[in-house]
Amino acid sequence: MLNKSQQTTIEPLGVPLKGTTKVPGDKSISHRAILFSAMAKGTSHISGVLDSGDVRSSIAAVEKLGAQVKLESQADGSLAGTVVGWGENGPVQPDEPIDCGNSGTTARLLMGVLAPWELDVTVTGDASLQRRPMRRITAPLMKMGVRFAPDGQELLPITVHGTKNLKAISYAAPMSSAQLKTAVLLAGLYAQGTTTLNEPSPSRNHTELMLPEFGAVTTAADRTASVKGPSLLKACELKVPGDPSSAAFLTCAAVLVKDSDIVIENVSLNTARIGFVRTLERMGADVLVRHKGSAGKEPFGTIEVRFSGLLRGCEIPADKIPTIVDEVPILSLVAAFAKGVTVFREVDELRVKETDRIEAILEGLGLIGVDAWMDGSDLYVEGQPGLQLSPETVFDSKNDHRLAMTWAIAGLAGNAPVQVKNFDSVKISYPHFLQDIERLT
Ligand code: S3P
Repeated sequence: MLNKSQQTTIEPLGVPLKGTTKVPGDKSISHRAILFSAMAKGTSHISGVLDSGDVRSSIAAVEKLGAQVKLESQADGSLAGTVVGWGENGPVQPDEPIDCGNSGTTARLLMGVLAPWELDVTVTGDASLQRRPMRRITAPLMKMGVRFAPDGQELLPITVHGTKNLKAISYAAPMSSAQLKTAVLLAGLYAQGTTTLNEPSPSRNHTELMLPEFGAVTTAADRTASVKGPSLLKACELKVPGDPSSAAFLTCAAVLVKDSDIVIENVSLNTARIGFVRTLERMGADVLVRHKGSAGKEPFGTIEVRFSGLLRGCEIPADKIPTIVDEVPILSLVAAFAKGVTVFREVDELRVKETDRIEAILEGLGLIGVDAWMDGSDLYVEGQPGLQLSPETVFDSKNDHRLAMTWAIAGLAGNAPVQVKNFDSVKISYPHFLQDIERLT
């Protein structure tokens, strides 16, 4: 039986969102800043790091492997400080499995981090992570010479036996995944020659952009990334910009809540991450991005957004899905309020996220009387401008942070209070989500 305290009541805001705000540090860039600093020789200085469950999993993992992490909480809630990496000495053999919690990025990137070292490290995670596919990572790493036990296993726990004799490969990835791309490139740093990865459509390129800060030579083309090995990373200084995936929730809330007008500052504007802005524009929303500068090679700036009265459905082609891969749940909620049908092409990857997000979207939209269905791999949402929620709605986050925030926005932007089961999962990427919304009211 579900304990009542695990259900959070979300009341309609009733007032517009107004003002200027910031979002916490980017989760993908924070993971990479910690993992790459741990691999590097010397002391890296990193700031703006997201303080959340997933990033804590990466910090704990590299500490177990011998990196010295001294990060402290700052006034704005971010983490800043130093990481002393293991450099050419390599990581130490941990005396127990590394528990990556809920974090797919930690588990999958770690396999690439461990690839060049002759250790036996068991990688595991929570119940959700133990259901997520890992063969997509182990298959290319096996081609490079890494062994895994059990051999060919899809699910964690998996033990990684690295090798000093990694082979450079040229790999055609079966799916677009930045986690897969990163694991291969990290292993490629220690192989002789150039390791190249091609993907069906471009996934986020933070790895290719960040590794040169540590002295590595990479290329970052449209659907191809490569790294030249061998290359020992050297410590550097990094600033993590705000997370566009977190900004997407505030942006969509402002689009839906009458008379809202907000500015979100210091957000990463990496084009592989702001597909949601393009999608909202095509739906008729009033959203504007302004470039302000770059942190290393990562562009950042502001997102300005106003309430948008009449939204219309649109079609998002398959090659753009990687640019909204974490935003499909919240965009499907916006689509529920738009006139006409929105189609998200080829979204099967959403089935293997923290939960099956396709099932969860269909179920949640069904609860509020919105027609949504799958045709093959395509997700359809038939919108209802002026949609009214019934006061009894109980959404289930399924312990998935992005679903918890999506259904919370249904309540905040709707006409009746809703319940969200296990809302607490927001701690994975955006612990102060509700407080940030409150501050804008
Ligand atoms: C991430 C890549 C994406 C994304 C995840 C973070 C990353 O996953 O969904 O939240 O930091 O590399 P895939 O690589 O599985 O697409």
